[in-house]
Amino acid sequence: MNSRNDEFERMIGRYKGDGPYLHDGERVMIDAASGTFNLPFGYTHERLTNKLKQQLDRCTHLSSAYTKPIAEHILQRLKPHLPEGIDRLWLRDVSGSGAVEGAIRMAQKYTGRSGVISLFMSHHGQSLATASISGNAFRLQHFSGYIDGSFKIPVPESELATGQNPQALDVDHFSALEDFISYGSTGNIACLIVEPVLGNGGNIVLPVEFYRQVREICNKYNIVLIADEVQTGFGRTGTFFATTGYAKALKPDIIVFAKGAGGIGIPTGGILMNHQLDVLEAYEHSNTSGANPLSLTALHETIAILEEEKLLENVQRNERYLRDALLKLQTNHPLITNVRGLGYMFGFDTPSPEIAVMAIDIAAQLGLIIRGSRYGKGRAIKVRPPLTCDTNHLDEIIDKLDSTFTRLEQKLNTTQEAAR
Ligand SMILES: Cc1ncc(COP(=O)(O)O)c(C=O)c1O
Repeated sequence: MNSRNDEFERMIGRYKGDGPYLHDGERVMIDAASGTFNLPFGYTHERLTNKLKQQLDRCTHLSSAYTKPIAEHILQRLKPHLPEGIDRLWLRDVSGSGAVEGAIRMAQKYTGRSGVISLFMSHHGQSLATASISGNAFRLQHFSGYIDGSFKIPVPESELATGQNPQALDVDHFSALEDFISYGSTGNIACLIVEPVLGNGGNIVLPVEFYRQVREICNKYNIVLIADEVQTGFGRTGTFFATTGYAKALKPDIIVFAKGAGGIGIPTGGILMNHQLDVLEAYEHSNTSGANPLSLTALHETIAILEEEKLLENVQRNERYLRDALLKLQTNHPLITNVRGLGYMFGFDTPSPEIAVMAIDIAAQLGLIIRGSRYGKGRAIKVRPPLTCDTNHLDEIIDKLDSTFTRLEQKLNTTQEAAR
């Protein structure tokens, strides 16, 4: 029995975080993917950890009878960071998938309709319903969670996956959305959900004009507009929410958050909405561990740290530095194309999914964590450092990316020569 305990301790104990660094027992790696895009402060943050330890000693569960006023307090803290018209918080989730489902329920109950419009290459979660509205079919091959009336629309034009300035793109691309609604559906549509920057889809930055038109069309057809800010929220794009910055033209009726809201990976999720959408009864959407005291502590402290350590300003200040450095890499490495992104949320393409996997492997050997995804064309690599990273950290990430692609190019050249 003891040896099994020892084995567990050995397995889990080999990993140790230190801000943006992860020690895996053999090497130290800088994590340019912020874990699973959920570590805005990296793996550790002393102030947050101390608050969590304090709370661990007090209690780790309270029923919603006790946590409701605390959630209300958190809403007051969030208020300066919310877009106009968002004035309520539903805090009963511990995951993004759960919170997205809650948002859909609100839209369905409010409108009396059921369907969800979502985008190709979007990702909204792993529950049956959220997987069914996500825009990549591979996860659904053996399952069905279809919500009546739902359909998906193409991401506005493929050039948007490139580094081209999205603001400069032709606006006519989006008139098709109205055709889908008028001619391609029964009109049973409750809501449209969009990630302001498509995260898993390959870091696709949508054009501002798209947000504006989507808002207009949702108004026209009385469709609830949900911004899925699970990845973009809590500072990732340089403003507290993308919908208070780059994507403010969306003017969402509901914002969903999770991931980064827990600061160092403490699970939390929530729904922010206009009071008209505050229609659910507690029994209609809640989870046992929603708003548990550790989540509440992490969420509250994360807001305070973002404000007091001026991390949004840090991201805004360094955004250009990071973009320029990535563009320079693109100039020097033919395997890197289409650098795109904003804030600390960047991505680029490699020639193929296989090459993306090779790059990720080599980077790990060199002490750099980057992530790809099976979404989209599967060849994107994402660079999303913790928001606490300064320019020295960014330099380290760029240097390691440079070495990664130099080594990868050598490897591919050697393989090609051997094949001749
Ligand atoms: C945009 C977006 N929405 C929702 C989710 C689901 O969140 P979770 O994995 O916490 O359920 C994710 C997860 O990757 C996401 O990226």
